[in-house]
Amino acid sequence: MTDIIDGKAFAAKLRDRVGEQAAKFARAAGRKAGLAVVLVGEDPASQVYVRSKHKATVAANMESFEYRLPADTAAADLLALIEKLNADRAVDGILVQLPLPAHLDEQAVIAAISPDKDVDGFHVTNAGRLAVGQSGFVPCTPLGCMMLLTDRLGDLSGLEAVVIGRSNIVGKPMAQLLLDANATVTIAHSRTKDLPAVVRRADIVVAAVGRAEMVKADWLKPGATVIDVGINRLPPAEGEEKGRLVGDVDYAGAQDVAGAVTPVPGGVGPMTIAVLLRNTLVAAHRAEGIDLPEGAL
Ligand code: GUN
Repeated sequence: MTDIIDGKAFAAKLRDRVGEQAAKFARAAGRKAGLAVVLVGEDPASQVYVRSKHKATVAANMESFEYRLPADTAAADLLALIEKLNADRAVDGILVQLPLPAHLDEQAVIAAISPDKDVDGFHVTNAGRLAVGQSGFVPCTPLGCMMLLTDRLGDLSGLEAVVIGRSNIVGKPMAQLLLDANATVTIAHSRTKDLPAVVRRADIVVAAVGRAEMVKADWLKPGATVIDVGINRLPPAEGEEKGRLVGDVDYAGAQDVAGAVTPVPGGVGPMTIAVLLRNTLVAAHRAEGIDLPEGAL
């Protein structure tokens, strides 16, 4: 029997804990923790994400500041807004929704965010802190995956972990986190030779490549814990208006081979916003010099 890792339920509990701690923070600090989200342009998927971030932020007793800028916003104007948010004491976390329109340089925009407000963990300072084991901000999706893994497995010491994908947002920070937890880590990618054989060694598989159902059941070591970060839409089948959402793992095939697997949707996805709220609350505590109780989140 393969267990289903219920990320949706786990994320809901995390959001509740954040909400409780955020209320305590507001009493202690005399203000709510604040998250500013900047959306440039009208990408439909980004609009959905931004709306759900806003709702979740308010529900967790935090202040949500939303900035919607036109698609043709000049780089200087976006950078000026980020400077203003960096200096605003009501703003603890700043998130610039990606992708940005093509004329804007994402790296330059991320670099403009104060590392202490970079709740996405995308700034090179935070990537560097993670690489050398200093506390900073860790990108939300890999940190959420890590929470699901430690909840399921406890101590990861000595386990073989294979991360498929080497993006700055998921693959690389995921590998760092697993290494910090004393797993033996392999990062596989599009040029990896004999990927099925590499994946077959893994006690832990984290798939983050963005290719529908790429990881097959016979690539999995029986009993492996499988974390599926992919969200891919299949072409619509006969009679469907929209295609189904699937992950990077053949979910049906993984049943009865994997020890546990995250579903898509309802696995990793809901963790991302919950961790974003957590990171924002951590930023707020740091900004005010207030201790967050150990293990509260
Ligand atoms: N676009 C899709 N996911 C994310 C995310 O986690 N952070 C930002 N900034 N943009 C995104």
